[in-house]
Amino acid sequence: MSIISVKNLNKQFQRPIRKEGFGGAIKDLFNRQYETITAVNNISFDIQEGEIVGYIGPNGAGKSTTIKMMVGILIPTAGAVTVNGIIPHENRKQYTKNIGVVFGQRTQLWWDIPVSESLLLMKYMYKIPDDQYRRNLEHFSDILGLNEFKHTAVRQLSLGQRMRADLCAALMHNPQILFLDEPTIGLDVVVKENIRTFIKEINRSRQTTVILTTHDMADIEKLCSRVIVIDRGQIMYDGNIPQLKMQYGSDERMIIELEVKRDASKVKEKLEASHIGYVELEGTHLKITYNKSEINSTQILRAIMNEANIVDFIVQPCEIDEVIRRMYEAPAINEGVVVG
Ligand SMILES: Nc1ncnc2c1ncn2[C@@H]1O[C@H](COP(=O)(O)OP(=O)(O)OP(=O)(O)O)[C@@H](O)[C@H]1O
Ligand SMILES: [Mg+2]
Repeated sequence: MSIISVKNLNKQFQRPIRKEGFGGAIKDLFNRQYETITAVNNISFDIQEGEIVGYIGPNGAGKSTTIKMMVGILIPTAGAVTVNGIIPHENRKQYTKNIGVVFGQRTQLWWDIPVSESLLLMKYMYKIPDDQYRRNLEHFSDILGLNEFKHTAVRQLSLGQRMRADLCAALMHNPQILFLDEPTIGLDVVVKENIRTFIKEINRSRQTTVILTTHDMADIEKLCSRVIVIDRGQIMYDGNIPQLKMQYGSDERMIIELEVKRDASKVKEKLEASHIGYVELEGTHLKITYNKSEINSTQILRAIMNEANIVDFIVQPCEIDEVIRRMYEAPAINEGVVVG
């Protein structure tokens, strides 16, 4: 049984069209016109208990809008979200007991009071039993390193400190599901890693289901067994990462250093003529990105050795960043969802 079920979900916004200039502003007062924006367009998916799902897509794709409908802040224009059989926006009081939410761009904590007191307020709001509160606080403080700033007012925290405090607060009541909208945005590599470890640990030890949006592909690679990619409100891909790499790109890259610069452009031309991957040239270095299922590194080396002297080479796996970048750059897909 799935824990979250999203069916034919749609969200449209009305955005006022502003007329230009002073005259336009006056006209707007009396006759405001609106355009309709479809932020989420017929999205469906199911999430099983204990999954960590990455929900990714370019800016404006509709990620936050979907998350807001899943947490019950926004009401769908059409379609349905059900979580454990509950419709989020209709049963918010009951529902919030079951979920934890972190919006990276905005804190859920009280701005003017110390972190420790914000957490105490949470304790009363969620009626968290004493021993659970104590155990969680100790455990989370440990992994997230909260002790050094727990007596500081939230408004005085650095972004990384605030995000850690927010994560802790979101989990004090032991929610079954955790929604994270850009939990690592703007953080340094050490804090990012710390937060990833924390999310992983919570998922492993408590079977907490996690849905996260991010623009950081390392988050995805390190945390998610499944990704849902959306673009312009529609699902483009739903599946695992290896399959995504297979489907959307060459999954290997070779960097080859040649002895003579002049040979490099000749080799580039030859490789391009025989359609061996995507070739870039930087001085004496050739960067070749190719699909492993079509050709292997030995075949490429052999093809080059006939033309020029090779000084050195390395083979790198294609990073998911690269795959995703190409996917975002690709024209809109109309033939439906690719399921991996
Ligand atoms: N309250 C709103 N009123 C009008 N339009 C909105 C509103 N919220 C979102 N939109 C529009 O809906 C679309 C999707 O926005 P959304 O915030 O869901 O994108 P996103 O995928 O989270 O992007 P990002 O990666 O930049 O956070 C955008 O075109 C945005 O301008
Ligand atoms: Mg967003």
